[in-house]
Amino acid sequence: MKVIITENYDEMSKKAAEIMIDLVKSNPNAVLGLATGSSPIGMYQYMAKDCKENGTSYKNVSTVNLDEYVGLTADHDQSYAYFMRSNLFDHIDIDLKNTNLPCGSAPDTNAECDRYNTLLETKKQDVQVLGLGSNGHIGFNEPGTPLDSVTHLVDLTENTIKDNSRLFSSIDEVPRQALSMGIKNIMNAKSILMVVSGKNKAEAVRGMVKGEITTALPASVLQLHPFVTIICDKDAASLL
Ligand code: GLP
Repeated sequence: MKVIITENYDEMSKKAAEIMIDLVKSNPNAVLGLATGSSPIGMYQYMAKDCKENGTSYKNVSTVNLDEYVGLTADHDQSYAYFMRSNLFDHIDIDLKNTNLPCGSAPDTNAECDRYNTLLETKKQDVQVLGLGSNGHIGFNEPGTPLDSVTHLVDLTENTIKDNSRLFSSIDEVPRQALSMGIKNIMNAKSILMVVSGKNKAEAVRGMVKGEITTALPASVLQLHPFVTIICDKDAASLL
């Protein structure tokens, strides 16, 4: 694991964007595994700025996102599909046909998970971007998720529902379930790029980097991946 500690969120975002941009420049057909949440927003802004100012092109890039809330349609403003359009896809020259997320409003969630797993077999991520839940989750793989899991239906923990409620008008509106890539799908990526910021992540960062590998802290499994870069601000790194 390569751990890069930055002064603040902005520096974290800039460094992470540089890695993404270099990858796209060296491989214009790259498959980018993407994440939502507050952590990657700054990175996406730098990528969008670079696309506009320097012309880095995403025309032949394709994307696979980690997860989606169950029950929200792609036009719901809290869906991850909406998040990806408003934070990145609408600001770069990507073809929306090449962007993929699990569909949270699919009538048959099992069939949707199967579809996504099949898709991931043909779209191996050159890089998988990750944030980190304060309980150590990656994607929506909550503590206890088996290490060999693939895309599945998740019952969100109270902790995650509470963390994510800040983005909804009330906690009752936060979906209770999500579809998430499994840990195996994440570990299949050729490389992993995690962005983490804030004091509330410090304990999870410590466990992920220095603790034992345990399903109780899903991100600790990243210790087993050969190409992981973790970019964290000094608050998130404060317990290292
Ligand atoms: C959600 C997402 C995760 C994300 C996590 C952290 O639960 N499913 O992919 O990493 O939140 O979010 P944030 O970056 O907002 O702290």
